[in-house]
Amino acid sequence: MTATIIDGKAFAARVREQVAEHVTRLKTDHDLKPGLAVVLVGEDPASQVYVRSKGKMTVEVGMNSVEHKLDADTSEADLLSLIDQLNNDPEIHGILVQLPLPKHLDEDLVINSVAPEKDVDGFHISNVGLLGTGQKSMVPCTPLGCLMMLRDHHGSLSGMDAVVIGRSNIVGKPMAQLLLGDSCTVTIAHSRTKDLADVVRRADIVVAAVGRPEMVPGDWIKPGATVIDVGINRIERDGKNKLVGDADFDSCAAVAGAITPVPGGVGPMTIACLLANTVTACCRANGLAEPEGLTA
Ligand code: GUN
Repeated sequence: MTATIIDGKAFAARVREQVAEHVTRLKTDHDLKPGLAVVLVGEDPASQVYVRSKGKMTVEVGMNSVEHKLDADTSEADLLSLIDQLNNDPEIHGILVQLPLPKHLDEDLVINSVAPEKDVDGFHISNVGLLGTGQKSMVPCTPLGCLMMLRDHHGSLSGMDAVVIGRSNIVGKPMAQLLLGDSCTVTIAHSRTKDLADVVRRADIVVAAVGRPEMVPGDWIKPGATVIDVGINRIERDGKNKLVGDADFDSCAAVAGAITPVPGGVGPMTIACLLANTVTACCRANGLAEPEGLTA
C-alpha cells in the first residue's frame, strides 16, 4: 500500500482563505478588525523565525499584528505588566507569549496571566479545563490543525483507536482530549510506555509528537492507519541539513493509508489555526456567531 499524502500546506492555505473571508465580513458588517499581539522575550533564533512568520501571515489575512520584543533579562513584573495592558486593550483579541521563556521567568504564571478569552494558544488552565470537560474553549493550535486534517480525511472519527505518542501540554494532552471529544478510543503513550510498538500497531490513528527524529518505523504501523507527524527535527544526512518528522516517512508511507509529510504537513496548519483562533476570539468578544469549521 502507498499512503495518501495529506497536504497540510494546501489545507493551511484554504484555512487562511476562510479566515480572510471572515475578517472581510467583520470589517464590512461590524467595522471590526481582529488584532493579534505576539510577545517575544529574548533572542532565541527559532522563536524569532516563528514570530516573524506569524506577523506576516496575520497581516496577509487582513488582521492587525502587534509585536512586542523584550530583552532576555526582562523582569517578570515588566512582562506581567505588558500582558495586563494587552488584556485590557479592546483592539487586541488574541495574545500569544512565545515559548520557551528565559529560565528566570515562571512559564505557568505568565501563561495563566493572559486573559483566557484572549489566550489563542489555549494554554491557560481555564481553557485546559474547559477542553477537558467538553466545553467551549480556545483550543491549542497544533492539535486543532491535526484534528481538522483528520476530520477532513475520515469524516467521522467515532470509534477509531487513536494513539498519541507524547504527553506535552502543548500537543500530546490536548490532542488526546480532542480525539476523545470526537469519540475515539485514546491511548497516550510516552517514554515510559512498555511495548510501544505493540501499542502503536493497534491504532487506526497515530499522532507522533515526541520530538525524536524518525523514531516511529513503518513496521509499527497497522496497514491502512493514518499517521499524523507533529515532529519537526533538524538532522544532518549525507552532509546536508534536513528536516524530518517523528515518523520514518518512507517506511510508514509504505504501510499507512494516509500520512502527513514533514515539512508541509502539520507545521503550516499551526499558524493557520492561530489565525483562526484569533478570529474566533474576536467574534466571541463581540457576541457574534463564530466562524464555522474553524473551531473544534
Ligand atoms: N513555541 C513553540 N510552539 C509554540 C506554540 O504553539 N505557542 C507558543 N506560544 N510558543 C510556542
